[in-house]
Amino acid sequence: MIILVLSGPNLQLLGTREPEIYGRETLDEIHRGLEHEAKTRGAEVDCRQSNHEGALLDWIAEARGRCAGILINAGAYTHTSIALRDAIKAVALPCVEVHLSNPEAREPFRRRSRLAPVCLAKVSGFGARSYALALRGLLDFLGAR
Ligand code: DQA
Repeated sequence: MIILVLSGPNLQLLGTREPEIYGRETLDEIHRGLEHEAKTRGAEVDCRQSNHEGALLDWIAEARGRCAGILINAGAYTHTSIALRDAIKAVALPCVEVHLSNPEAREPFRRRSRLAPVCLAKVSGFGARSYALALRGLLDFLGAR
């Protein structure tokens, strides 16, 4: 069972980007933790990051028939991208929205997620742990089906 793990714009900067908000763990470290967690559950993660909306759209579409589910931290595209929302809806895979911070508790423009209505669930506010908790939840959900 493969879970696609997508991170969007500016998340390649984790570790040095506003550490008081996003913490000090790098995206590589997060990915390594997820690989370990997935392995213990007999699953696999395919972790990718892009600053380009089109790349994220292509990867979501390509997940059909290959992946069992998707974790996505779309960064700022979360709040703007109807295209990502449509892609998630079209691929019809269980998708969990992930955020390190709690966007609802921040600036007003972060309070709206374009993706939440087409996602199974959302995990936010636990820093890097949000990814691991989201993976656990998604694997539980898939195992329970
Ligand atoms: C984020 C929250 C977004 O509002 C922001 O644009 C990001 C990171 C998070 O993980 O907390 O880039 O998705």
